[in-house]
Amino acid sequence: MLITEDHLRIIPWKVANVFLQSALGQSFSGLYWFEKFFNVHHPQAILELGTGPGTLTCLFGMHCPDHVVTCDQHEGPDGLIGEVYRRLGITYCKQDVMDPAYAQRAVAQAQEAGRCFIFCDNGNKQAEFALYAPFLSVGDAIAVHDFGTEFHLTPEANLIIEHCKLKRWREDSEGDGSLLAFWIKEE
Ligand SMILES: C[S@@+](CC[C@H](N)C(=O)[O-])C[C@H]1O[C@@H](n2cnc3c(N)ncnc32)[C@H](O)[C@@H]1O
Repeated sequence: MLITEDHLRIIPWKVANVFLQSALGQSFSGLYWFEKFFNVHHPQAILELGTGPGTLTCLFGMHCPDHVVTCDQHEGPDGLIGEVYRRLGITYCKQDVMDPAYAQRAVAQAQEAGRCFIFCDNGNKQAEFALYAPFLSVGDAIAVHDFGTEFHLTPEANLIIEHCKLKRWREDSEGDGSLLAFWIKEE
């Protein structure tokens, strides 16, 4: 049976936040929307800001083997997730992602592989979006988690979106518990 968007609205947030036998920092519908988005955007490199348990990174690694970097202020995953990282060539960085010099360097490195996708999921998504969005090149994409709870379309965020020429992808992903919002940088 194919999962449809109607199903997402009836699957409670907490039902399936397990992936690869480990905790997942996303809802079930989040996985659905990442898959949908990657089918249209086809990223060639992914930068995840805020690793958490590290399971979402494994999904990213399946889409971009050898071209995923994930950063967190804590130690990186070990055990099964650490092994998946090794096999998928995922790079873990113990790093303050709010360091502007790091932000510029990390995006430039990701862009060497081609179209990049940045996922903002650290402790301050509003500041993270403001720091990373200006480094995007045409065709790159950015997403935030906790849209509507921790991240809001403030006047400052809207200015960044306008200035950086970011086009929102699928506003109708709101309301299914994913709390994800995606943008692609246009010409
Ligand atoms: C919500 S979790 C990430 C969840 C993960 N992306 C997922 O979907 O499973 C947020 C992570 O951001 C990290 N974090 C918060 N502020 C940070 C900072 N300034 N630099 C690096 N990591 C940070 C925290 O340690 C935490 O592990």
